[in-house]
Amino acid sequence: MSNYHIKNLEEYFQVYRKSVRNPTHFWEEIAEENFLWRKSWDSVMTWDKAKSKVTWFEGAQLNITENCIDRHLISKGNQTAILFEPNSTDEPAQHITYHQLHERVNQMANVLKAKGVQKGDRVCIYLPMIPELAIALLACARIGAIHSVVFAGFSSTALASRINDSDCKLVITSDGSYRGSKTIDLKGIVDEALSNCACVEKVLVVKRIHTEIPMQAGRDEWIQPLLDEASMVCAPTIMEAEDPLFILYTSGSTGKPKGMVHTTAGYMVNSAYTFKNVFQYRNNDVYWCTADIGWITGHSYIVYGPLANGATTIMFEGVPTYPDCGRFWEIIAKHKVTQFYTAPTAIRALAKESLDMVNKHDLSSLKVIGSVGEPINEEAWHWYNDNIGKGKSPLVDTWWQTETGAIMISPIPFATPTIPTYATLPLPGIQPALMGDNEDELIGNQVEGKLCIKHPWPSMARTIWNNHKRYQETYFSAYKDMYFTGDGALRNSVGFYRITGRVDDVIIVSGHNLGTAPIEDAINEHPAIAESAIVGFPHDIKGSALYGYISLKNTGESRSHENLKIEINQLITERIGPIAKLDKIQFTEALPKTRSGKIMRRILRKIAAGEFDQLGDISTLLNPEVVKSIIKNVV
Ligand code: WT7
Repeated sequence: MSNYHIKNLEEYFQVYRKSVRNPTHFWEEIAEENFLWRKSWDSVMTWDKAKSKVTWFEGAQLNITENCIDRHLISKGNQTAILFEPNSTDEPAQHITYHQLHERVNQMANVLKAKGVQKGDRVCIYLPMIPELAIALLACARIGAIHSVVFAGFSSTALASRINDSDCKLVITSDGSYRGSKTIDLKGIVDEALSNCACVEKVLVVKRIHTEIPMQAGRDEWIQPLLDEASMVCAPTIMEAEDPLFILYTSGSTGKPKGMVHTTAGYMVNSAYTFKNVFQYRNNDVYWCTADIGWITGHSYIVYGPLANGATTIMFEGVPTYPDCGRFWEIIAKHKVTQFYTAPTAIRALAKESLDMVNKHDLSSLKVIGSVGEPINEEAWHWYNDNIGKGKSPLVDTWWQTETGAIMISPIPFATPTIPTYATLPLPGIQPALMGDNEDELIGNQVEGKLCIKHPWPSMARTIWNNHKRYQETYFSAYKDMYFTGDGALRNSVGFYRITGRVDDVIIVSGHNLGTAPIEDAINEHPAIAESAIVGFPHDIKGSALYGYISLKNTGESRSHENLKIEINQLITERIGPIAKLDKIQFTEALPKTRSGKIMRRILRKIAAGEFDQLGDISTLLNPEVVKSIIKNVV
């Protein structure tokens, strides 16, 4: 455990320098000392730069669930592994021990096997934040099936396209979900999706909200009776280090969502190591990440990272505002949470409420608080640091991505000083580079550029499912032998990093990654609409919100603008999900374009932000007069 747990800044610099001098040796030591391997590796890392192919620990054999569950049974069998906090405060919390988790994962793994799921098959999981969700991931991993979790807020169209892209043969879902005072008919969404998915043979349904739902004979089955009958013993399937563990979809700036493929050994080592250091997890701590397991944050820092460390990890089913805006703080007090990890958008929303909602709860158990998903603005940082961290629990602003699999840049609590809005320093083994406009690396401090990563790290996504070419083009073509993140960043006078935001057409709304192209495609399906352009604009709570510029066809449209706005947001909800709805819609005769016909989004972004005096030179546009009329009618 020598270099596994960093305790002060000096030690960080020592470990970091060592890790950069010899990254493979650094990761090899961590892998050797902290995990259970059925067979050791032949090579720590290989990197075929021409093909953008990376491997870690090739030749090794393991099963990640043995590392996340079995090996803790002797010392921690009766410790809570998953602490489930339901949506309703009337329903008791559930403490699932490592022993119970072992039994339940094995039972579900046996059910999947009995339904014909084999190593390498894809299983789609579309579930709310209930224990069965984590158990389903682990059950897939137990038998070597590749899980593809789709966030249960996505629409049936979005679900269908993800199921088809990775050719899933089985879907695990529930009759519905609770969300605050509402219920959502998840099974209905699955049924609709599956009318367009020929690949799916079986649907297993968890009972959660006890509604009457149609079950399609031969295809759909309630899972509980099958689990009750299933054996609690299931030998783990021995996996190769580079066997895929899961696929998780993320938006790109263009085209359909990208199925990022994460493999077994490297992902395990990297997610576990970062969990331990970034949250300074100690025995008997109670760790809580409020993300949904439908996102990478939940995969790495609710399920795999915490369990690989034998931690107690909370799963929360509900929302921060139900039954009132003190729910987060109430849960921290109730379970004596020691590490709390959430998103800036939640902080900004809760900071608007009275401080009494915070102060009536005892938050003294907290040791570390974290932020993830988007830049945290200075005001939200201070509110969180002062009122939740009470100035004593370090606030870790963690930068990473679906593609990176694990946290890349973050303070290490009690070692790295924290500064508002700075993700601060790269974790050991991670080598950021800032690139200038001429593809040159910006050396030294006080520079700002595009953020790249120089050397492969174990948890990087290995490819895009069925589309390695797109992987290569998106991440490895902009700069030679470097991974391009799509983010901009600056390095201050002492070498600390601050992420400045996306430099492509991805907009982060309430911490959710949204590509503009799929939203525009959905809108353009409307018969009255000629063209649309979506940009982000600053929003108090969401960080960024969506502004749509829309031009109508000249067909004597009789519908009112108000009705059209409703229809546009309905289309978006159906095609993508409610998270992609537009906050502002402006109808315009035309969109500003370059002479080659490209929409000038840069100008539209400035207008949406109200920065009319910063449009730059517009005289070279094809239709500069349009800009004036757009400014005049800005929403
Ligand atoms: C994008 C990745 C990281 C898991 C959840 C989101 C933005 C993420 C931060 C941060 C500033 C951040 C970046 C990144 N982002 N964390 N701490 N500070 N920006 O994963 O959906 O793949 O989104 O989120 O723009 O590229 P994701």
